[in-house]
Amino acid sequence: MGKHGMSTLVDTYGRTHRNLRVSLTDRCSLRCTYCMPHDFAAWLPNEELLSTDELLTIIEVAVQQGIDEVRLTGGEPLLRPDIVEIVERIAGIENAPRLTLTTNGIRLPDLAGPLAKAGLNRINVSLDTLSRERFKTLTYRDRFDDVILGLKAANAAGLFPIKVNAVLLKDINDDEAPAILEWALENEYSLRFIEQMPLDAGGIWDRATLITADEIYAALSTRYTLTPVDNRGSSPAEEFYINGSSATVGIIGSVTRPFCGACDRIRLTSDGQLRSCLFSNVETDLRRVLRDESLNSATKKQEIAARFQKTVISKLPGHGINDPTFIAPIRPMSAIGG
Ligand code: 5AD
Ligand code: SF4
Repeated sequence: MGKHGMSTLVDTYGRTHRNLRVSLTDRCSLRCTYCMPHDFAAWLPNEELLSTDELLTIIEVAVQQGIDEVRLTGGEPLLRPDIVEIVERIAGIENAPRLTLTTNGIRLPDLAGPLAKAGLNRINVSLDTLSRERFKTLTYRDRFDDVILGLKAANAAGLFPIKVNAVLLKDINDDEAPAILEWALENEYSLRFIEQMPLDAGGIWDRATLITADEIYAALSTRYTLTPVDNRGSSPAEEFYINGSSATVGIIGSVTRPFCGACDRIRLTSDGQLRSCLFSNVETDLRRVLRDESLNSATKKQEIAARFQKTVISKLPGHGINDPTFIAPIRPMSAIGG
């Protein structure tokens, strides 16, 4: 199975799930305002985080059921002390999945080389502004220079294509879209703008101040000619060729242009809960299975496989952000995993 065979993770709407997002920790070295309040303190207790052995067991079961891409996220996944070992071990499992990682970039100067060597295939770095001052305002930390150095380190380590994710916030950085694109083109980073989603622990999301995909498109069009790329597949980003070249930019309209119909993703929280969607409020407990001393290891794996099936079968057709009855998830994105 895995990338060589059929996925058995098919939901009641016919969507086949191949992509597992794994949050390695809910801790972070930044405090991006759209993610968590600057004085956020509701961290998960350490003993509730999955151990590396537990993670590996879950990922092995997932791969046997047809998962062929694993994305490591957080919080900030590079805060996990044994991150290089985690990558190495995932890369070493039978039918190893494609392995990618989403990071704020701060620890990449030290880790990009070792991660590439351990088997990481690709990287996404979050960066929302080109101004050191604004970075500080947005993240409550003066770490802009570290992110830039981190991107250079990813480049030197050959983690291509290097993707950069940017979220635009009204009156903070929404005037920067064309400048960020120019910078990305110069550095050959593959840029994607993401609409702000109602996922922050502080509850600041407000539809009235949302910078929409249409607005991002319009802002970029003041300086660039964008031509849609066909073949979106299961990618959440709508991609555009820039000025008739082969370079592209992506816009992820999570709120105004939902892509749930093609979703192939399933999520594992850092404390071992399986979720069918970022916006689901239903979780399936895998940690409890792993820590149940009355079960042997084969039985645990069977039960975990069954819980993957159950989670996928219960997946709703869409995130419902635009329904009047929408309730934002209780847990912040840093715990669920981006
Ligand atoms: N809306 C949109 N994107 C978000 N991210 C974190 N929180 C939000 C949010 N509320 C982004 C991060 C990172 C990726 C994992 O998700 O900037 O790039
Ligand atoms: Fe950290 Fe990512 Fe949240 Fe920013 S968005 S605070 S980098 S987890």
